[in-house]
Amino acid sequence: MDERIIATDEQSADDWQYSLRPRRLAEYIGQDKAKQNLSVFVKAAMSRREALDHVLLYGPPGLGKTTLAGIIANELGVNFRPTSGPAIERSGDLAALLTNLQERDVLFIDEIHRLSRQVEEILYSAMEDFALDIIIGKGPSARSIRLDIAPFTLIGATTKAGALSPPLRDRFGVISRLEYYSVDALKEIITRAAQILHITIDAEGAEEIARRSRGTPRIANRLLKRVRDFAEVEGTAKISEEVAARALQALEVDSAGLDHTDRRMLDAMIKKFRGGPVGLETIAASISETRETIEDIYEPYLLQLGFIMRTPRGRVVTEAGYNHLGVTYPGTKTVQQKLFDFED
Ligand code: ADE
Repeated sequence: MDERIIATDEQSADDWQYSLRPRRLAEYIGQDKAKQNLSVFVKAAMSRREALDHVLLYGPPGLGKTTLAGIIANELGVNFRPTSGPAIERSGDLAALLTNLQERDVLFIDEIHRLSRQVEEILYSAMEDFALDIIIGKGPSARSIRLDIAPFTLIGATTKAGALSPPLRDRFGVISRLEYYSVDALKEIITRAAQILHITIDAEGAEEIARRSRGTPRIANRLLKRVRDFAEVEGTAKISEEVAARALQALEVDSAGLDHTDRRMLDAMIKKFRGGPVGLETIAASISETRETIEDIYEPYLLQLGFIMRTPRGRVVTEAGYNHLGVTYPGTKTVQQKLFDFED
């Protein structure tokens, strides 16, 4: 997985991206709805001199949830304390984080849906009453004490809002969904990154990369860096549309941003299962992937593009999906044709 150029997980080679991360809301491109609302809530909290209400950010990976959380802390003028659901193993870990917070600090928990049940329960009173209920001692002499903590803002991020338990979800005052970025927004992000990294690129070159970035800034910035490598080795001073297209073709990222694995999945659905409906498990087995990988990584973007559809009976390749692979769409079959299908 991790060698995929279009992977959305943060990779170690992405450390350079820290310098690309916008620090202020005004520098943050796209997500206008979330941005406008958050800017109002931040201003209101600041004028009341209160901690901002807890914020839940959700949406596909790579859309800038961590970046946005960092910006909120920055706009509020408070410390940003990032951690993640899987990193908080025991309730003591969370208690340590919470007791070290200063007034109005932002505690950011990435992948918050992966918190354990016990840790989550500690979080409830922390979020609601800014208090920690701690059990001291064991057996009959055990007693519970309540420890006050500084009012703080929890910013949770998740790719799966549905996986969050209702009591946790209900404790967030602001719930904001991040959307895939438009080509125009990605073009702006690429142009801004190119400036910071001293890469010369023209508008058409930026657009070519933007079109193939799956609506995701993290991918756009990574592709820009890879295209720069090609341009440099070729001795090309400027990234034009033609240079970008050639480099991306060499990287096997096609005109819609699909890589060879996405195409393999579509191809298997068309050739082995006549375009569906076919179940997730069956698709997964046919291309030797897990159901989770398909569901979390391949499917969301293929659905977004309208290349596949979810139906009660399974996944179906759409006409656009057939066209993209250059295979003739069989059309909606009549009952008679379907019966005939079984004979060949
Ligand atoms: N870099 C990554 N995401 C960005 C965004 N939304 N705005 C500006 N630069 C970015």
